[in-house]
Amino acid sequence: MEADPTVKPADDEIYISEIIVEVDGIRETQFHALRFPNRSAIYPEVIGRVGVSTVPPVASMRQLFVAEKFRYRGIGSQLVQACKGAARRDGCEALNLSLNPMNHHLGRKFYEPRGFSLAAEFADGDRCYAINLKRP
Ligand SMILES: CC(C)(COP(=O)(O)OP(=O)(O)OC[C@H]1O[C@@H](n2cnc3c(N)ncnc32)[C@H](O)[C@@H]1OP(=O)(O)O)[C@@H](O)C(=O)NCCC(=O)NCCS
Repeated sequence: MEADPTVKPADDEIYISEIIVEVDGIRETQFHALRFPNRSAIYPEVIGRVGVSTVPPVASMRQLFVAEKFRYRGIGSQLVQACKGAARRDGCEALNLSLNPMNHHLGRKFYEPRGFSLAAEFADGDRCYAINLKRP
């Protein structure tokens, strides 16, 4: 039986996969949020992703994205949490990210409640948010 696409899956039906790649000596960990679209599906669909590159002592997170119909249920937070874990594992003391002007609102609404604070603002309008990973 096909799953009703309007019914959101329970949180325990979402999996986070981890892939580690190394390009030009820089290690990047890519996390994907996955779910199986129906009971008989063999392949999962990707409903979210993020990448974190680690160059100790600093890690950089990029391209955080959650598919629209799965937003506001904690998947973005789980992906950020996974990045913090990968950064700590790789010996980083800080995790940062860049927000372009179109996404400035996420600084206050999404990143600050998750422990990040504004670290720099650049001439092109991009803002850098960062979190100190040494604090518990
Ligand atoms: C930002 C994003 C990853 C959040 O994913 P998510 O799975 O909805 O995140 P969570 O459910 O963990 O958290 C939702 C929180 O983020 C806030 N939020 C998310 N998107 C928001 C938006 N567009 N505007 C305002 N607040 C937003 C919500 O207010 C909510 O806050 P609360 O927990 O205090 O209630 C998702 O909205 C997204 O993919 N957006 C488009 C791509 C993007 O902008 N990426 C970030 C580039 S740095």
